[in-house]
Amino acid sequence: MSEAAISETSDATVETASPGALERVDVHFEPAGRQIRVPSGVMLFDAASWNGIAIDSTCGGHGTCKKCKVRVVDGIVPVSSLDARALSADELRSGWRLACRVALTTPISVEVPPLLTRPKSATAGVGRRVILRPAVQKRYVELSEPSLQDQKTDIERVLAALDDLELRVDLGALRSVATVLRRSDFKVTAVIVDDILIDVEPGDTTDKAYGIAFDLGTTTVVATLLDLTTGAPMAVGSMLNKQQPYGADVITRISSIMINNGGDVLDRLARLAHETLAALVEEVCAEADVDPKNVYEIAVAGNATMSHIAIGVDPEPLGVAPFIMSTRRWPEVLAKDLGVSVHPGARAVLFPSFGAYVGGDITAGLIASGMDRDTRVRLFIDIGTNCEIVLGNSERLIATAAPAGPAFEGASIKCGMRAAAGAIEVVKIAEEDVALGVIGDVAPEGLCGSGLLDAVAELFKVGLLDSSGRFVSDEVANATVPKLADRLRWLEKERIFVLAYKGDEGDLSDAIFLSQRDVRELQFAKAAIATGWSILLEEYGIKPGDLQQVLLAGSFGSYLSPASAIRLGLVPKLPVLRIVSAGNVAGEGAKMALMSVRERALAMTLLEEVDYVELSDRADFNDRFVEQLAFSI
Ligand code: FES
Repeated sequence: MSEAAISETSDATVETASPGALERVDVHFEPAGRQIRVPSGVMLFDAASWNGIAIDSTCGGHGTCKKCKVRVVDGIVPVSSLDARALSADELRSGWRLACRVALTTPISVEVPPLLTRPKSATAGVGRRVILRPAVQKRYVELSEPSLQDQKTDIERVLAALDDLELRVDLGALRSVATVLRRSDFKVTAVIVDDILIDVEPGDTTDKAYGIAFDLGTTTVVATLLDLTTGAPMAVGSMLNKQQPYGADVITRISSIMINNGGDVLDRLARLAHETLAALVEEVCAEADVDPKNVYEIAVAGNATMSHIAIGVDPEPLGVAPFIMSTRRWPEVLAKDLGVSVHPGARAVLFPSFGAYVGGDITAGLIASGMDRDTRVRLFIDIGTNCEIVLGNSERLIATAAPAGPAFEGASIKCGMRAAAGAIEVVKIAEEDVALGVIGDVAPEGLCGSGLLDAVAELFKVGLLDSSGRFVSDEVANATVPKLADRLRWLEKERIFVLAYKGDEGDLSDAIFLSQRDVRELQFAKAAIATGWSILLEEYGIKPGDLQQVLLAGSFGSYLSPASAIRLGLVPKLPVLRIVSAGNVAGEGAKMALMSVRERALAMTLLEEVDYVELSDRADFNDRFVEQLAFSI
């Protein structure tokens, strides 16, 4: 980065940059060679953390430790006042910046130095710092050899060297202990998970302790391999859930089990979940060059249906009123029970669920966002086919689930598609023209959820949609935005707005458009979500303006434009800076559970602290839903 590129800004400026802008920004990380795309305004430190790229820190991105130094090798990043205090003039000239002060607004390439120290804490979640205290412990011990005078058994010998711990012994450890002790001159490493000795390994292997955090989504599954000695993410992998052929959402998967009378289909779905997890284990271990046998614990955050199926428990009662789960908390489960080939004694942590539609992924998300410990009153919205909403602070938390439908997944939208290469993710409409942001910078193929939200918000803004969600007449269109009026067309008796022509200009046969029915789908989803949070606000006894922050979570929520969400009333009408993308909070919560037994214990106690509000039995739900259908300025 050249000297000329340096300009100074205040920390205040940096802190107020927000994900409110419409654009996405590309960021390249070296030496990992990773390229990611995040909403404009997200802090570099958070973007790295969401994507499993470890940056040194002990303050969790709060600007106090000054350890998060990265070097900007391409692009322009102003010097924050904290940079000016923490870094030398030479460092600033060479492009060094503190990652937690860099708001991403233009494409940049950064070099991330290796972690300097073995930290006692690591960052995870939404700007959280976690004190490292994993359930997995390794202890290297040098034991005296047995003799006729010293007749302790092999296991007694190992346990005597660990006499500060009260341990139970796994059969696997017992089976191998005799051989391992004698082959390694009685110098061994004890592998402990919680209070269980799961293995005895030859020599000193204390530097090899890994865990894998899974976000087991209905659509996508994400795995993060963590080094449990440092808390650093080593590799991240994601893939579509292999259960996809059985339907796009939990209801269709439950239905396929019901139609086939359980048994067979449940087994097949469980196997497909296991195959998805197993494929990701292979991928992340290969990427980080880690032996899967050194993975001693996994944590799985999934909604109630995904968790039931993965364990092999029939989820049918979740799909019909009164929506009853088999259990809120899971019994002790081994990683191999989930079809995962890691250490044979590895444990699996499964997050408990509040209800059939507020599952373990939300429990994990609450831990990641720290809502249960923060005094600020915040609203957490995880947007998907089913939308989970939690409101409150450390004093009181209430939750609900709203049936948003498949609009945001693109399933019920005429030109809808998932957020993959070719999907229009950003739409800007000015008087003159339509500008599109397409994932992968390729020719547009369809419209994903964030593009859908943008398109409707922008059409409403320029006056081509009225507040009832109807496209305006040709006369009104010609009078208000004449240069765009010819994009309003009729297709099989339905009004559409053309976003892009793939072939000849004017040829509708393969055009990408937004139809009147698409707008209706979005209105239904928006109305369900807005009804959900407005009822929670009322139950809590506060007004929208009292909210100090709205966290948008999940693979869709994190990538939508806060400005569009506000304009359409998907979230309360607040200053855009109070709407924050929270990233993959379920995955972050799973990482935290692996890093810290304390965080894990808090996740388990959350069940007692959150009051669940059921929307379906409220007499006023329908009236409120209808009220929320309209768009308002
Ligand atoms: Fe601690 Fe940036 S100063 S993370």
